[in-house]
Amino acid sequence: MLLFSFLVISCFRKVVHGEPLVPCYFIFGDSLVDNGNNNNLQTSAKANHAPYGIDLPGVGPSGRFTNGRTMVDFIAQDLGFADFIPPHATASGNDLLRGVNYASASAGILPETGSNLGTHISLDDQLQNHQNVTKAIIASVGEAKTTQLLNSCLYTVGMGSNDFINNYFVKGSPSSQKTLEQYATLLIDRYTSQLKALYGFGARKIALFQLGPVGCTPFAVATSGKNACVQEMNDAVTIFNNKLRPLVDQLNDAFTDANFTVVNGLAMPTSWLNVVAAIPCCPTDQTGLCLPNSTPCLTRSIRAFFDGFHPTETVHRIVAATAYRAYIPTEVYPTDIYHLVTS
Ligand SMILES: *[C@@H]1O[C@H](CO)[C@@H](O)[C@H](O)[C@H]1NC(C)=O
Ligand SMILES: *[C@@H]1O[C@H](CO)[C@@H](O)[C@H](O)[C@H]1NC(C)=O
Repeated sequence: MLLFSFLVISCFRKVVHGEPLVPCYFIFGDSLVDNGNNNNLQTSAKANHAPYGIDLPGVGPSGRFTNGRTMVDFIAQDLGFADFIPPHATASGNDLLRGVNYASASAGILPETGSNLGTHISLDDQLQNHQNVTKAIIASVGEAKTTQLLNSCLYTVGMGSNDFINNYFVKGSPSSQKTLEQYATLLIDRYTSQLKALYGFGARKIALFQLGPVGCTPFAVATSGKNACVQEMNDAVTIFNNKLRPLVDQLNDAFTDANFTVVNGLAMPTSWLNVVAAIPCCPTDQTGLCLPNSTPCLTRSIRAFFDGFHPTETVHRIVAATAYRAYIPTEVYPTDIYHLVTS
């Protein structure tokens, strides 16, 4: 029922034409929102092949880890952007003035996260790329205009899932020696410095995505051999998630000329996860990604997972709707993205 209402609401949301609500949108994240930054990296974490992108006519397999649009694509549309925000790997010139997507699959808050899969652009490196982009914008429109522009953009940051999946829970990793509480504290400390750096580059409207139930991915469920969500993994991300609201309070207190908020990144109703068996829509390889050129399921619009890890466009649509205009107020703290950008 909940899912149904979300879909109805989403279908009636209007795409605004004309000027977007903010002049620019900068995206930091991992595979949930990567739209092509890993395509030319030496890593197994890439999605630039069919059947990824099957429901994205005219775009196709761009490097997005889903069948269609991602949550940040929906948020960009909600804001009124006529085009998707381009990946940093290919953005140049005037593109930069409208924002850039720096997200990289397998990346995390810690630089070493994801190294088990190959190279990646960690959050530190994404911030470095952003600093570089700000320099290019200054060169193009001057210092004063750049400051004004960067102050008025929206920034979303969704990081941390891989610090668990592709670091803490990798057998024999040095991180796994720590207690979960120690590890979550380490991540939050690092994240705090990174968000302060982003503020330092001029960001004033920043939304953080909470982590989803990583223990409920088809890959985690299959690997556990128990046909159930892996509670230990979900408990781990919950410890991290519970530290995000205090973090947002701390940043809002420290920077009174900025607004930080945290939104539920994967607002999948738990009942739905149980009802829809955690089966990927596409045939997957041993890493959990779709086998290249395989035939995906036809029921994509009502499935939770496209591959072994990543949600379908339908789930992305629901997450974006929740984050952008919180129909369930408890899913955002202290505000949704619409109010963040219009205040
Ligand atoms: C920064 O931008 C310049 C000019 O676009 C480019 O040549 C350089 O490689 C970039 N540096 C990094 C660290 O991305
Ligand atoms: C932050 O939010 C407050 C209250 O909603 C608003 O008055 C203020 O202009 C916002 N600041 C920025 C930088 O968005």
